[in-house]
Amino acid sequence: MAKIAASVLDADFSKWKTWLPELEKAEVDRIQWDVMDNKYVPNAGVDRQKIAQLRPHTKLFFETHHMVKKPEAQVEEFAKLGSNMFIFHIETTKKPLQLIEQIEDFGMKVGIAINNGTPSKKIFSYLDKIDLALVMTVQAGFGGQKFIEKNLDEVRALRTKIDSQGLLCEIEIDGGVNAQTASKAIEAGTDVLVAGSAIFRHPKGILAAIKELQSP
Ligand code: DX5
Repeated sequence: MAKIAASVLDADFSKWKTWLPELEKAEVDRIQWDVMDNKYVPNAGVDRQKIAQLRPHTKLFFETHHMVKKPEAQVEEFAKLGSNMFIFHIETTKKPLQLIEQIEDFGMKVGIAINNGTPSKKIFSYLDKIDLALVMTVQAGFGGQKFIEKNLDEVRALRTKIDSQGLLCEIEIDGGVNAQTASKAIEAGTDVLVAGSAIFRHPKGILAAIKELQSP
C-alpha cells in the first residue's frame, strides 16, 4: 500500500473539523503543508497559523514543504509551529549541509526537494544524510496542475542510488498525482505520494479518494 501525504494547499479550512478526522480514518501517512514566499514561487501558500491551529487536534505527521528563497530563516518558526519534517528545495540554498544540521538541531526530520527540471544527481551526495527526497512532478507553486511523467526518470535514478547504497531515504513525488499517475509513480520506485486536488476535489469524497491512491 502506498503511503499518502495529503496536501492541504487547496483544502477548505472552514471545514477542517470534517476533513481532518476523515484523513485520519483513511490512514493517510502525513499532511503536507505548502509554504511559499511569492518569490521562489508566485504564490502565497498555506497560512502558517493554520499549522498551529490544527497541530493540537491530530497526531498525524506534519511535513512542511518550503518553496521559499530563504529556507534557513524559517527553520525555528516551523519547528515551533509543530512541523515534524522540514523539506527545502536544493535550488534555494548554497549551504545544504548547514541547513540539514540546523533542521536536525530543531528536532525535525529533513527532506530535500528538486523542482521540475533539476536533475536528481544534484542531491545524490546528501541521500545518506536526509530522511526524504521529494521529486516535483509539476512546476512548484500551484495545485491542480498536469503530471509531468518524464520526472519519474529522476525517481528511477534516486531509487537505484538509494538501493545500491542500502540507504533509508524515502522517495516522495508531489504534483498531479491521481489514481492513474500513482501506479506509474509506484512502479518507478516512489514510496510516498503527495496529493491535493485528487483528494479534496474527488467527486466521491476524501475516503474514496485516498483508498484509490493507496491501491491504484
Ligand atoms: C505544488 C504543491 C503541491 C500541490 C499538489 O507546488 O507543492 O503539493 O499542492 O497539488 P495537486 O495534488 O493538486 O497537484
